[in-house]
Amino acid sequence: MNMKVNLVKERKEKPAWDDCGFCKYYTDHMFVMEYDDSQGWYNAQIKKYGQFLIDPSALVFHYGQASFEGMKAFYGVDGKIRLFRPEMNLARMNQTHERLAMAQFDSEFVLEAIKKLVVIDKEWVPPVEGMSLYIRPFSIATGTVLGVKRSDKYKLFVILSPVGAYYPEGVKPTKIYVEDKYVRAVEGGIGGYKASANYAGTMKPGEEVLEKGFSQICWLDAKENKYIEEVGTSNIMFVIDGKLITPSLERGTILPGITRNTVIQLAKEWGIPVEERDLSVKKVFKAAEEGKLTEVFATGTAAVISPVGLMKWKDKEVIINNQEIGPLSQRLYDEVTAIQYGQKEDTRGWAPVIG
Ligand SMILES: Cc1ncc(COP(=O)(O)O)c(C=O)c1O
Repeated sequence: MNMKVNLVKERKEKPAWDDCGFCKYYTDHMFVMEYDDSQGWYNAQIKKYGQFLIDPSALVFHYGQASFEGMKAFYGVDGKIRLFRPEMNLARMNQTHERLAMAQFDSEFVLEAIKKLVVIDKEWVPPVEGMSLYIRPFSIATGTVLGVKRSDKYKLFVILSPVGAYYPEGVKPTKIYVEDKYVRAVEGGIGGYKASANYAGTMKPGEEVLEKGFSQICWLDAKENKYIEEVGTSNIMFVIDGKLITPSLERGTILPGITRNTVIQLAKEWGIPVEERDLSVKKVFKAAEEGKLTEVFATGTAAVISPVGLMKWKDKEVIINNQEIGPLSQRLYDEVTAIQYGQKEDTRGWAPVIG
């Protein structure tokens, strides 16, 4: 497939880097391609970022066939722009498409499109430590025959937005609330995929948790309400007795995070025992009472590592590591960000230089 490139004549004015927040501003260009059953993917183009027309009967509005991804481009200390394990995001997006009966796409082609798009809008990659250019690929069903069945048409977009440092005032451990009323995902459902529908159901529980004074929600399994799954839009890890323990992906209810995968690989390389397995909230609290729980942290593209300082479950509450970032959390954060910002040699081929 060819890719048309239509550059804007006049670039937008860039925001002040310290006013970027999270996805407040979008860059000059976007990528879009279309699909229909008769011709496959076609009409790939990089064009001006902007609104587009869509039919009110487009199936995405009715039955929610929509997927998305989140990744970043970094401005390195050497002035080069790097991505971080982008092929994993595109592979995961195709897995989401498969589960939602959406058309598969050529992930190498879309990765090339992303690289081209970021290079075209490279002035928007903030040259500021801790900041990055957020990359949001997403896809929607655009077929207009309103039966409850897979769409025959789709659009896939990539948009870009400069985003601020996650910890502008230094790392602050979060307070998490273990949810015992709502659930996020069931076995056999779509929790293991980046389907937009997964996120719709988490808004209300998330708001209730904020109202209670906590920063994040910790999801338990839907069947027994016993095993820890994820925290907000991150995976979760525990250091118990010197071992790094994280819920396994086996049930299909947890998103296979790219940061999760990165952290597991690094920990193994550093000789830290890693266990991917069921972990009940009861056992976590027991380990805390016995002084064996030394660190808890969430992993995700947004913050890389987000230490947890306090956990509440029913009437119990535990403080972790004196509400400070622990040594493993700090080491992992330093290692991953050093690779992303080109401060450390990328020996694993994780951070391709694209411009
Ligand atoms: C539900 C959920 N879990 C975990 C993650 C972390 O995944 P990643 O490390 O790929 O950003 C995300 C973010 O993408 C998410 O939305």
